[in-house]
Amino acid sequence: MRIGPYKLASNLVLAPMAGVTDRPFRQLCKRLGAGMAVSEMVSCNSLLWGSEKTRRRADHLGEVMPRAVQIAGADPRMMADAARHNVDNGAQIIDINMGCPAKKVCSVMAGSALLRDEGLVARILEAVVAAVDVPVTLKIRTGWDTAHRNGPSVARIAESAGIQALAVHGRTRACGYKGEAEYDTIRTIKQTVGIPVIANGDISTPERAKAVLAHTGADAVMIGRAAQGRPWIFREIGHYLATGEKLAEPGVEEVRDLLMEHLANLYAFYGEYTGVRIARKHISWYSKGQRGSAGFRHAINRVESADEQIAATREYFESLLSRRDLAA
Ligand SMILES: Cc1cc2nc3c(=O)[nH]c(=O)nc-3n(C[C@H](O)[C@H](O)[C@H](O)COP(=O)(O)O)c2cc1C
Repeated sequence: MRIGPYKLASNLVLAPMAGVTDRPFRQLCKRLGAGMAVSEMVSCNSLLWGSEKTRRRADHLGEVMPRAVQIAGADPRMMADAARHNVDNGAQIIDINMGCPAKKVCSVMAGSALLRDEGLVARILEAVVAAVDVPVTLKIRTGWDTAHRNGPSVARIAESAGIQALAVHGRTRACGYKGEAEYDTIRTIKQTVGIPVIANGDISTPERAKAVLAHTGADAVMIGRAAQGRPWIFREIGHYLATGEKLAEPGVEEVRDLLMEHLANLYAFYGEYTGVRIARKHISWYSKGQRGSAGFRHAINRVESADEQIAATREYFESLLSRRDLAA
């Protein structure tokens, strides 16, 4: 799949997830087969640009191309400024978020709340496309609520405004994360526009990825929650799509090694204090479903230093390995 001048290494995209898809996680997912990884949302409020958090979110040092940065907001001029600011700071693709139902975002009429006002959608998209000379992409839900699935109409507006790819989460804004994602509206959207469409929502297995691509005709799939603690899901899906065969789950040693690499990158990126805290949720995702993981998670959340966190994590994985050897 292409977005403007960029040919993606695969048609598997890591979904933007605030607080999760930082540079260390994006790099890991790209190494394991994600063709694109959109970085967390950067506020369009320029007062926040100097903050440590915003600066870190826009840090792409060493990141595999293309570097895509997401922005959100409801004011066309501010959004245009935010897009320019991010391009000046190295963004190669600007992604606009009209797909996130978070209250914080919706109360200022950004994210998926915007889908209600198609005139404003058009003004924002046109302003951002005119402001930068890099491709602009858009992420939406299927509509405002199940009675107003106006995704196809928003998609048409997006295409006319010059948007170069469209990611669609198969839920409405009102659905939050409830129920199952539906892919019929994504199929209609794909049939409505000529730009690449990326299908998103509840894709958690290689089989589901293949079925969603077949059902929707979408050009790519976007994976969010299923990649938490399982960055190798991109490798698994890529292999299945290419060969029709399922790869074996990674062994305990490989999971341990990937997690260790991930931890080192988190400490380097955030510094020890914040790195240790951010690492907790990742450690807990990686260990989910493993033997004795509840007790391990409880203990790891109390550890304060990087050395202790590494030692406790190693010890836990060693215990999994020795149990496996005993069982063998
Ligand atoms: C913790 C979390 C944070 C998210 N943050 C964003 C965000 O900043 N921008 C956005 O467009 N979507 C955000 N989303 C939505 C995801 O990108 C994705 O559309 C959604 O999780 C559905 O995909 P999934 O079923 O593969 O997780 C977030 C989702 C989660 C779980």
